Amino acid sequence: MWFKPWKQNKVDPLDQVVRDRLPRHIAIIMDGNGRWAQKRALPRSMGHRAGVEALRKVVKACSKLGIEVLTVYAFSTENWKRPKDEVGVLMTLLTEYLRKELQELHQNNVLIRTMGRIADLPREAQHELEHSMESTRNNTGLILNLALNYGGRSEIIDAVRKLSKDVLMGKLRIEEIDEEGFSKALFTSGLPDPDLLIRTSGEMRLSNFLLWQLAYTEIVVVDELWPDFGQKALLEAIKVYQKRDRRFGGIHTN
Ligand code: FPP
Repeated sequence: MWFKPWKQNKVDPLDQVVRDRLPRHIAIIMDGNGRWAQKRALPRSMGHRAGVEALRKVVKACSKLGIEVLTVYAFSTENWKRPKDEVGVLMTLLTEYLRKELQELHQNNVLIRTMGRIADLPREAQHELEHSMESTRNNTGLILNLALNYGGRSEIIDAVRKLSKDVLMGKLRIEEIDEEGFSKALFTSGLPDPDLLIRTSGEMRLSNFLLWQLAYTEIVVVDELWPDFGQKALLEAIKVYQKRDRRFGGIHTN
């Protein structure tokens, strides 16, 4: 039998982060697929395809690390403005991703959840999402929250409408409307707010993502284009987060 002593000392990079100060909820704006493809003289669709591969790696790493929630901005309400073909590619990739990855996600105890106006997505994508959510609903590991046809402003408007209806029906008094109740009326109901927001490809924008929930989130913008992002870059971003001093508007007394 071959003996490979060097293998025994190999440290899993995932073990190099401080596990007791991990973010509970990581949100990611996966930006730069188009530029990644352009740099290689490839069609944009190839950039999105490579983006799915990066997502696969990051989901796996988050799951192994014991992160509770990973929210990814997969399709915004503004993305409908893109050429019809590109929108079609993104929807096909979503359906393909769910079909191909479901078994592995399930094995890794991942629970799939969505946020956004899902009813406006193509029927096939909706069907695949329903199936994936149903099959993983009892899983207790990472919650993979896919933001699809999502916009932060429309989410807030929907919540206002919901609470207004409750007031009109006499189920809620205006004075009873508070931050906790408002949070419960959002798509992220029941989830902790993100501790860390990562945006790839260097842009310093929120792009209508989680406008309410990001109030005290630490933001880390990295230069890598999304398809180049993976486990290593994720760990770097987490390390940056762990060095941040989170005061939530208060001060330290010690
Ligand atoms: C931004 O890159 C990325 C998107 C609009 C979509 C993100 C989608 C994926 C990573 C793949 C599909 C997702 C799932 C869940 C299967 P961009 O096209 O805006 O890049 P650019 O700014 O360089 O043009």
